[in-house]
Amino acid sequence: MIDIHTHILPDLDDGPDNIEESLALARVAFEAGTKMLVATPHVLNGLDMNQSMQIVKRFNQFKARLKQDLPELELMLGSEIYFRPDLAGIAHLDVATIGAKGRYMLVEFSLVDIPKGFDRELKNIRSSGIVPIIAHPERNAAAIKRPALVRQMMDCGALIQMNAGSLTGSFGRTVRNMARNLLKRGWVHVIASDSHGINHRGPGLQAAVSAAAEIIGAANARRLVVENPRIIVEGLPWTDNKV
Ligand SMILES: [Fe+2]
Repeated sequence: MIDIHTHILPDLDDGPDNIEESLALARVAFEAGTKMLVATPHVLNGLDMNQSMQIVKRFNQFKARLKQDLPELELMLGSEIYFRPDLAGIAHLDVATIGAKGRYMLVEFSLVDIPKGFDRELKNIRSSGIVPIIAHPERNAAAIKRPALVRQMMDCGALIQMNAGSLTGSFGRTVRNMARNLLKRGWVHVIASDSHGINHRGPGLQAAVSAAAEIIGAANARRLVVENPRIIVEGLPWTDNKV
């Protein structure tokens, strides 16, 4: 499995405090069947060259350590960018996109609302050649109230990433129902862990895959953690028939 959303880098955001905790998280992920993961630290206030370099530095340190201690696990770099105007304008920074070739960008909204003009901005990103991936909309209160917003994001060219924990009940019944609802409608492209530590949203994906399989079948559930994330990390073009 490939996990495209993790807060595994040490001492950067609300993920692990130090490299040992990051390594512990990597081990748990690997033992749970994840063969590749993308480090996606929060970028909350825009991204500049300095911040990008700081993240790259921390990534390189951790990657070197991982190469010694757990060389079987592949690690890639990206970020989870808080939605703001002109996201396409920062796409040239390595950290701003996930996977090879800079084709995909992981974008989060607040958990409360979806700002006006989101559709125009998503279309702008998409027409600049980057596919926005919306992080965990099943946790967003506005989307829970009006699921058609998620369809609207897709119509603007965005992909939908659901959190594993949403489907297994980590965020309560309302979010779980929303997660199931999105799956039933075929509005989910990727399941990822959004893991912050071994004790805080662990990195395991398997329980969510099993829960998804009951709703959409085993092959479709597998596509959300294997085939679709592979397209993203390899930077291959997205075609709608892969939904
Ligand atoms: Fe996250």
